[in-house]
Amino acid sequence: MAGVCPKLQVIDGILVSTNIDLETLRSALNYKPRLDDVFLCVYPKSGTTWAQVILYTLTHDGEAFDNNMAEYFACTPSLELIGERGINSMHRPYVIKTHLPLNRVPYDEKAKYVCVIRNPKDVCVSFYYFTLKMIDREPDKASFDTFFEEFISGNVFFGDYFEHLKAAWQLKDDVNVFLISYEEMKHDLPTVIRRLAQFLNIELNNTLLERVVTYSSFGYMKERYDKAYLAQARTTLADELSTLPRPISKKHLENSDKCELVRKGTVGSWTSEMSEEQSQRLDKIFVEKTKDMHGLDKFFLPQEK
Ligand code: A3P
Repeated sequence: MAGVCPKLQVIDGILVSTNIDLETLRSALNYKPRLDDVFLCVYPKSGTTWAQVILYTLTHDGEAFDNNMAEYFACTPSLELIGERGINSMHRPYVIKTHLPLNRVPYDEKAKYVCVIRNPKDVCVSFYYFTLKMIDREPDKASFDTFFEEFISGNVFFGDYFEHLKAAWQLKDDVNVFLISYEEMKHDLPTVIRRLAQFLNIELNNTLLERVVTYSSFGYMKERYDKAYLAQARTTLADELSTLPRPISKKHLENSDKCELVRKGTVGSWTSEMSEEQSQRLDKIFVEKTKDMHGLDKFFLPQEK
């Protein structure tokens, strides 16, 4: 997208940033899951980082991510950015993050898949801000209008939102798949954490629950996450000889200062960006593309407390 959207390429049918390495992505697609692997499968801008922090805290006995950022890095691999070799060097317990659609994520019935979905209007606006940040540009109506058209056409990183939604929806009833929405997390996080712990067979006491709620809260993460992430990225990059595991590729680590992963964190922030006409167009597309997904409303309807 001229002026706003970064360049894209298609690798094995997947629309990705030109920063993604072909061999790495192919090795990611061919990764053979281990029996106890947990995957976090999320369309971009739908709450990946939030869910990753929740899972990290749950699987590390309530330790805050910023207590040991090197260890957080070592336990939060990004499948398509580091491929199979990268995953093999990570510390356990890790949760493998991916933006691949669920039908392209390496599958094994003994592995577990946590999928987070979010309403497309907020995803679109969040994606827009993410993209602007990467090209260091201020928001304006014209660039949003351009981005909106690309989003509804699926011309963005990792392709069409609705293809991802469909892929997750089709597998949501498998026993090793856990589907949750960003809106549900905003509505009642403790309940989501309890259900997640049960899904992962993690014993959850009140102290652990409180820690997960605290360290994954918007306030805690807003104050610390992006800063801590960037500082760790710099440390990791500075030591060329370091054998510390890297959650993402070197190229992506170098771009960490261009990312704001914890931004506004609300449900409905699209209203300040999207025109009535755009909103109605997206509603129409939503109705058409999700007509067979009975019960989807329940995922997106909970309102923020
Ligand atoms: P907004 O841009 O709407 O604020 P991802 O991690 O998949 O890129 O998703 C990013 C979105 O998750 C951003 O949405 C970001 O603010 C939001 N987010 C990150 N941490 C959060 C938290 N602790 N609580 C609520 N939202 C959070």
